[in-house]
Amino acid sequence: MAHLVAPSILSADFANIQRDVEMINNSNADWFHVDIMDGVFVPNISFGFPVVKAIAKHAKKPLDVHLMIVNPDQYVQTFKEAGADVLTVHYEACTHLHRSIQNIKNTGMKAGVAINPHTPISVLEDIIAEVDLVCMMSVNPGFGGQKFIENTYHKVGLLKTLIKNKNSKALIEIDGGVDLNNYKKLLQSGADVLVAGNTVFSSSDPSKTISELKTFEFSL
Ligand code: DX5
Ligand code: ZN
Repeated sequence: MAHLVAPSILSADFANIQRDVEMINNSNADWFHVDIMDGVFVPNISFGFPVVKAIAKHAKKPLDVHLMIVNPDQYVQTFKEAGADVLTVHYEACTHLHRSIQNIKNTGMKAGVAINPHTPISVLEDIIAEVDLVCMMSVNPGFGGQKFIENTYHKVGLLKTLIKNKNSKALIEIDGGVDLNNYKKLLQSGADVLVAGNTVFSSSDPSKTISELKTFEFSL
C-alpha cells in the first residue's frame, strides 16, 4: 500500500481555516489530521466540536481525529456526528481500552489507539488485532513543532513485527516532528501514515511540501 500523508490542522491558520482546508483538498494529501486537546490529558487546549464541524463542512478527504483527552468514551458519538472518519484514543487515557475501541467501531468509524513516546509497544499485544490504526507519538503530545524523538524508528520496527505476528491490519501512523529529513527513514522502518503539521504549514509552498512527503519509492 502506498503510504498516506495527513497534514495536521493544529498548525493551520485558524483565521483562514477554509482556505487551509481547500489547500489540503487540492493537494496530494490523503487525510486531515485533527488534534483535540483538553488541557487535562495534555498541557494544552486546541479546539472542540464547532471547529471540527467547520472543517468537516469543507473537507473532501477523511477526518483523522486524534483525541488527547480524558474520558474519550463520553464523546465518541458526538465526534461521529461532527464528521470524524477515524477516531483515535490514547492508551494512557483508557482504563477499558477494548470497550473504547468497540464503541468507536460500533459507530462505523475506524478505531485507532495512540501511544506516548514512553509507552512500550508490548502493551498493544492484546488489542492490536482489533484496531485499524496505531498512532505512535514521536513527540510528547500537546504541541505542534516539537523535535522528533529518534527512538521512534526502533518502536516502528517492533510494532511492525507485532502487527504481522497477530495478523492485524492496523496502519502505523507517526505523529510529531515528521519532516523532509526523517520521513523516508520512517517509511523504510514500516510507517504507513505520516502526520505533518509544522513541516507543511510553515513551508513557503505547503502543497508542494505535501507532494514531497508523498514521494517515496522503495529501493530493494
Ligand atoms: C501533537 C499532535 C500532532 C501535531 C504534530 O500533540 O498530536 O498531531 O499537530 O505537529 P508537528 O508535525 O508540527 O510536530
Ligand atoms: Zn496528533
